[in-house]
Amino acid sequence: MRDIIIAGNWKMNKTFQEAEDFLVDIFEYLHNKELEKTTSIICPPFPYLEMATDLAAESNLSIGAQNVSEHESGAYTGEISAAMLHSMDVDHCIVGHSERRKYFGETDETINKKIKMLQNYRIIPIVCIGESLQQREAGEAEEVIETQLLATLQDVQISNNLAIAYEPIWAIGTGETATPQQAQKIHSFIRKWIQENYNKEIANSVPILYGGSVKPENISDLLAEEDIDGGLIGGASLDSNKFKKMIDIAEK
Ligand code: PGA
Repeated sequence: MRDIIIAGNWKMNKTFQEAEDFLVDIFEYLHNKELEKTTSIICPPFPYLEMATDLAAESNLSIGAQNVSEHESGAYTGEISAAMLHSMDVDHCIVGHSERRKYFGETDETINKKIKMLQNYRIIPIVCIGESLQQREAGEAEEVIETQLLATLQDVQISNNLAIAYEPIWAIGTGETATPQQAQKIHSFIRKWIQENYNKEIANSVPILYGGSVKPENISDLLAEEDIDGGLIGGASLDSNKFKKMIDIAEK
């Protein structure tokens, strides 16, 4: 059985103090708690990563970044490299979030480079894909997903070193969640695609997370679906009580 991943994407939220208070609270909660099937990850903004990985060193919480440069190093003002993340013990990184695609012009091609860069540094990319409302209404959801998979995973090796997050754009930050059945349909499509393009063993092992208005009230129905292996959670991950509750539900 695949483990469940509860990953919090804080986006551009929280001051340093608020971030530290949240993390201390989570560490206290996780202290002496044996998580049997859940991996929990927090992805804070870049400036807090060092504080977060220092605090997390003694715990079973993983720390992820929200983005990475596709370049190795050099004259790229304002960018953060995979080598930098690796040197701070960051073990996961979100790539290709729809907000990065929409506001910062990221394409499947740049996302493909970022994935390879992260894997070179043994950081697990959480690769985001998902269709817009217009594409869903036009009946193109699976086609869009397939195009994104083909381009973002071109020449990418998968062996316990990559996770996928299906995030329908219309469900992100809107309060509108895909129904568990809608999400399951796409998750199973993704798993089949991986089986056809890699093999069955890889398809069965790759975690496929769902993202888009996940919260304590809807997470157990989502996790009950066969191919939903966890959540990439924005809004509800900003509240430590909600985050703890979602870990508890995942562990049940
Ligand atoms: P949301 O965000 O949970 O606030 O919808 C999810 C995401 O963007 O990863």
